Amino acid sequence: MIDNFGRNIDYIRISVTDRCNLRCVYCMPEEGVENILHRNVLTFDEILRICRVLAQNGLKKVKITGGEPLVRRGVANLIKQIKDIEGIESVTITTNGVLLTEQYHNLVGAGVDSITVSLDTMDRAKYEKITRRDEFKKVIEGIRYAQRENKVRLKINAVPIYGLDETEILSLIDFARESDTDVRFIEVMPIGSGTEFESITEDDIRKVIEKHCGRLTLCEEIRGNGPSVHYSLDGFKGKIGFISAISHKFCDKCNRVRLTADGYLKTCLQFEAGINLMPYLREGKTDAQLLEALNFGISQKPKAHQFDQKENFEKREYRNMSQIGG
Ligand code: 5AD
Ligand code: SF4
Repeated sequence: MIDNFGRNIDYIRISVTDRCNLRCVYCMPEEGVENILHRNVLTFDEILRICRVLAQNGLKKVKITGGEPLVRRGVANLIKQIKDIEGIESVTITTNGVLLTEQYHNLVGAGVDSITVSLDTMDRAKYEKITRRDEFKKVIEGIRYAQRENKVRLKINAVPIYGLDETEILSLIDFARESDTDVRFIEVMPIGSGTEFESITEDDIRKVIEKHCGRLTLCEEIRGNGPSVHYSLDGFKGKIGFISAISHKFCDKCNRVRLTADGYLKTCLQFEAGINLMPYLREGKTDAQLLEALNFGISQKPKAHQFDQKENFEKREYRNMSQIGG
């Protein structure tokens, strides 16, 4: 499916729940947010129907996300069924890792193509400050377990707020040393609670890495679903990546849309632009009508985000990442 600016939309990020077992400061207020009522959450059958219709029209890649996707029962089963859809080339998941050890084999059994774990720091106290939960040990255990089992590609995503000192940067990238685990640094996006934070810059992180580990060499091969720029480092099996949506804008190459847990097709992180699919799913519409709605939604995709502009507050996104799908 091609949008109004010639971009080929072949990737969807599907939020299977807005619930989460952490409370990251840049994502949620302390008390959490009001949960979507169960009856307003897309069923797996509804998600599968959307995937089938999109796959018939060029969708190739699906990311399962949340909230925290592993808190929804049966996620591995959903992955397996999406994998079975003709045209779908990869189904990946992004998780905070708290439930990774117990779910790892289910995910692998379902045929997941990669697992991304969010981990912003290697300091237990700081982890608790960021996530407001004391789950650091469980997450590290999950990552180590996945590295040992090594049945599927593993990645680590870090949103570096509160700074990161040299030791921390070095211990985060250490995950990429012995195993083919990519470690990627992601700029915090100014949406919802994220507006209150700034991450340290890509340049600062690069400087620290190059000071201690030698030159970062740009890697031409495409890894992942899109915007990450990867570098290789002598002596490291995994790559180091940067996803910098603000400082290195990549909207012109954006290939994605999002589906929220309550059935809204969202076409840009910053804006509401899109369409509510619920009426097309629950009011007896045909697949052709659903496709028309999907096409309309995609036609609403803005040319670019405008996080860098002070004006244009109209129709901006005020919800948090857990409600939109990270
Ligand atoms: N900016 C960037 N990343 C965010 N995430 C949550 N909120 C934000 C934000 N405002 C990330 C989480 C997780 C992913 C699903 O989304 O850290 O890695
Ligand atoms: Fe949960 Fe992810 Fe939001 Fe953290 S960023 S509170 S792990 S949904």
